[in-house]
Amino acid sequence: MKIGIESINFYTSNYFIDLKSLAEDRNIPVSKFYHGIGQEKMAAPPPDEDIITLAANAAYNATKSVDKDKIDTVIFATESGIDQSKSGGIYVHQLLQLGKNCRVFEVKQACYSAAAGIQMSLPYLMLHPDRKVLLVASDIARYGIGSVGEPTQGAGAVAMVLSARPAIVAFDMESGLYTEDVMDFWRPNYTDEAFVDGKFSIKMYIKALIESWNQYSGRSGREFADFYRFCYHLPFSRMGEKAHIHLAKHAVGDDYDNDFLMGQISDTLHYIKIIGNTYAASMYVGLISLLENSNEDLTGRRIGFFSYGSGCVGEFFSGEILPGYQKYIDSGAHTKLLNNRTELSYEKYKEFYSYSLPEDGGDYQTPKNETGLFRFAGISAHKRIYQRLF
Ligand code: HMG
Repeated sequence: MKIGIESINFYTSNYFIDLKSLAEDRNIPVSKFYHGIGQEKMAAPPPDEDIITLAANAAYNATKSVDKDKIDTVIFATESGIDQSKSGGIYVHQLLQLGKNCRVFEVKQACYSAAAGIQMSLPYLMLHPDRKVLLVASDIARYGIGSVGEPTQGAGAVAMVLSARPAIVAFDMESGLYTEDVMDFWRPNYTDEAFVDGKFSIKMYIKALIESWNQYSGRSGREFADFYRFCYHLPFSRMGEKAHIHLAKHAVGDDYDNDFLMGQISDTLHYIKIIGNTYAASMYVGLISLLENSNEDLTGRRIGFFSYGSGCVGEFFSGEILPGYQKYIDSGAHTKLLNNRTELSYEKYKEFYSYSLPEDGGDYQTPKNETGLFRFAGISAHKRIYQRLF
């Protein structure tokens, strides 16, 4: 039996800032961002957009053509949760008007959590092949104005329906894991901006990749040459390139030249370069980018996935692209979404970034911006209010 992705979609903010504006403000060459970290633009959500509206937009599109009555599990993966108790998934469940006979919960482990959602769904769907799981990963990456991490911010969500009737990717059952207690990136409850030891985080990412790969290849018997393309967790696009070069060197020495290796990941990088880090969603934004931008038919090709979440957990797993997958991807809609975004000046970006609802327990309404099909309208009686705009 094959278990995998039946449908997948992503959504990002309608607003972005070009990193040249950031470079101008810092008085540094923009090439540090465009080439040094490989990022050109980053999504900048307005006050009435949050991880719920981003997630609901992605999930609405991902569930449009599936039998929603079969969804009996919603997993919401995020590290920028909006409530200490209630799962963000329940808001999405309500906004999408999914059936009430459903379990809904939130998972957290930095950018890794959606991979846990996939791995936990595989045996569940094997046991219950008539059911479907809606997995949503949604995050807003915030490091602070003027911080070293600022150019690697971003925002977006990916939603996928996992089932025993996959149409896009069928996952292999083997995976390789790595966990180590490290402080490379973390966010205490008292702040909405992450702390990061940037250089150390890159080292830990690579270490977790190599360790996860070692266990994966030992368990599966698959070698580097068995993969056609690789999807990495993408905090910034150069991270994917660095990771791939390290993995190739470790697995096969100097067998492949740089152009060949970059060709194995370049199509995964298009969207991330102009959206930025979407934390839990980012590897899957890379997968969608690959599926929508590859000039080749990827049918039957094996893809390697490496998910990394700071703190840290890494997992290497794999899957095969299924025949006819092209019919199930939404590239026209994504191109339109990305091309129609509004560019913010540096001042306007700072205004969006600095907006926060007062914490005095009062009722507040958010200013109105373009947020797609759903909108975060404000707070009333300590409750977050969401609107369907259709
Ligand atoms: P930095 O100090 O701004 O940058 O930090 P740098 O000085 O290291 O320069 C970056 C690259 O630009 C270097 O290239 C420079 O040579 C180059 P490299 O040595 O890496 O090949 N450069 C230039 N290139 C062209 N023209 C120029 C120029 N100047 C310099 N003029 C850093 C960069 C990514 C560390 C920082 O932005 C940061 O801390 N970001 C956040 C942390 C992060 O993204 N870590 C990634 C791994 S951890 C992870 O992925 C998990 C995460 O997603 C969180 C989670 O799990 O929840 C973050």
